Amino acid sequence: MLLKSNFPHLLARIVECVECKHACLEKGLCVFAEEEMRDVVALSSRIFSKDVDTTLQLRYELFTKINAEIAVRATLATVGLQGIADLVEDEVEDILLVPGRPIYVTKRSGKFKTSKTADGATIKSLLKLAQMKGIELTTANPSFRYGLRFGKMRMRVSLDLPPIVPNPQAYIRIHRSKITLRQLVESGFLTREQLAEIFVALKEGRHIVVAGPPGSGKTTLLAALDDVIPGNLQRVYIDEADELEEDPDKNQIKIRDVNKARQIYASLNRNIDLVFIGELQYEDHFHAFKTATEMGLQTFATMHSATVEEALRRLERYTEVKNTAIVQLAKRYGAVIERRVVEIYVK
Ligand SMILES: Nc1ncnc2c1ncn2[C@@H]1O[C@H](COP(=O)(O)OP(=O)(O)O)[C@@H](O)[C@H]1O
Ligand SMILES: [Mg+2]
Repeated sequence: MLLKSNFPHLLARIVECVECKHACLEKGLCVFAEEEMRDVVALSSRIFSKDVDTTLQLRYELFTKINAEIAVRATLATVGLQGIADLVEDEVEDILLVPGRPIYVTKRSGKFKTSKTADGATIKSLLKLAQMKGIELTTANPSFRYGLRFGKMRMRVSLDLPPIVPNPQAYIRIHRSKITLRQLVESGFLTREQLAEIFVALKEGRHIVVAGPPGSGKTTLLAALDDVIPGNLQRVYIDEADELEEDPDKNQIKIRDVNKARQIYASLNRNIDLVFIGELQYEDHFHAFKTATEMGLQTFATMHSATVEEALRRLERYTEVKNTAIVQLAKRYGAVIERRVVEIYVK
């Protein structure tokens, strides 16, 4: 409970800490007693910046100054996500939340049922965040995605609502830090030869489709490729889940709504160099892909598929596949999850 008498004083100290730029602990500015922390977290949930992500970042930086060890947990708690904080901290890659059922997670070592039950409160908080992100929660829009980010943490939240499912449920994918192409090669995800083949395809101006099963590292590879393409090239990202990072060194335009893609292409046509489609999932995404490639824009995308043949079949339903490289990934559950590039198909 908040100690009413202490309240304005505590809030003033929090604000001082927010404003402090360096040597904050030394100056005694961000020093809070352990018993004050509950109230600090509760009060911090009333500090806002211009949007959800800058707000989360602001709070995360505040908690990092106070005690870096609790920063992730405290930041999540300010938006009602304390229920999944220990999973987020436990190197989990994805979390499935179906209210009333056990929480399932994927870790490096495989997929597990946890001893926790998913509660409605966490789902409610995720719905509230969606609303704050400006997503319309209507029966016409029963399945949607958004991203949350702070520090090095990137979360992709997918929510399904009735009538698709009996009760709202969520699936959260977590990226903790950027993985570079060099790290992908060193970890055995990709051989040097395969990387060279991808570079050739890139230089030849081919469209790149990264295909693979869920969690095989498609988005990770796409983001790593984005990083080696010169920053001055104008990119358009169709990225509802907000997984591809904002980067001040890159010339970027983000579109949240795939239906706006056509207008953007049309208005920016002469200026666009590259198009990234976070995931070819629904018809609209394939149409955006077709439009971009037909306009001669080099296009990058990820797509769910188990084999190159399946990927081709899916693409060909919407567009003639040409000038394209399909990078096929595989994922295998062993002692640890193995992910790797299994085939590069060029057409
Ligand atoms: N090569 C890799 N090495 C280690 N972790 C990886 C690798 N590729 C992906 N991951 C992790 O696995 C999870 C799923 O990756 P992601 O790229 O989102 O998969 P997909 O887009 O295929 O669903 C993320 O937590 C990501 O950080
Ligand atoms: Mg992905």
